[in-house]
Amino acid sequence: MALVTGDRILQHAKQNGYAVCAFNVENMEMVQAVIEAAEETGSPVIIQTSANTVKYAHMDYYFGMVQAALKHATIPVAVHLDHGDGTELALQAIRAGYTSVMIDASKQPFEENVAKTAAVVEVCKPIGVSIEAELGNVGGKPGDTDFGASGYTKPLEAKAFVERTGVSSLAVAIGTAHGVYKGEPNLDLNLLAELKRTVDVPLVLHGASGLSEQDVRQCIEKGISKINYATELRIMFTEAVKEYFNLEDDFVDPKKFTGYAREKVKEVAKEKMITCGSNGQAFTFH
Ligand code: G3H
Ligand code: ZN
Repeated sequence: MALVTGDRILQHAKQNGYAVCAFNVENMEMVQAVIEAAEETGSPVIIQTSANTVKYAHMDYYFGMVQAALKHATIPVAVHLDHGDGTELALQAIRAGYTSVMIDASKQPFEENVAKTAAVVEVCKPIGVSIEAELGNVGGKPGDTDFGASGYTKPLEAKAFVERTGVSSLAVAIGTAHGVYKGEPNLDLNLLAELKRTVDVPLVLHGASGLSEQDVRQCIEKGISKINYATELRIMFTEAVKEYFNLEDDFVDPKKFTGYAREKVKEVAKEKMITCGSNGQAFTFH
């Protein structure tokens, strides 16, 4: 197995009662760490890059690194654009080889969100690229002052949104926020269960860094099929580099600290895959 669409993995996750981990990567070592973790645990996985990350380096670089890693892998992998802002970026992702894109117009009023999302669906669907959209307010995005305390996803709006846009999956706001939690997250699991009953596409959870294992498991039980992790991996990579500089000071080879950080990120990724129950699921993938 190798490169597949996001939707294929999400449908498999939905049918088999687990969640696929979607990890934001920033460099080659993080790509390698995630793919190795997925291989070792037998997990389908999604590698994603945010709109901010692809300002740092073109998507061709990230896709190229995943492609290289896949030469040595057997598990199903999707490559996803995270928090894209419209058709132009979606097209860049498609040209680079990504198999899934997100259009995040969740800050726009409902009708504008529908229109922007439908425009991306129109471009992606005919060529088999999956589309994730967001409805509601998952807080903590750059420039946000609201940490998700308001704007939870409304089930009937979600149903209408999915029917009108034709998206493959929907990111919902149930009390999570991006980045480091300032206090205890207050997840509305009843709302999540209601969303699962009302919407028939796989549901996505953003802002999973900092959630307890129990919270994550409950979210999966109530209907989440994809879980996004960014901050925890970034923190682990960066802290590991700092730690290495404290352990040793007489070196000139960057591979020393990037290799050390790669191992640490791999351990985090494996833990998340086990928490999400994706371990072993690659073997039932056809
Ligand atoms: O889109 C990416 C995620 O929602 C990651 O959230 O940084 O809190 O893990 P996080
Ligand atoms: Zn997100």
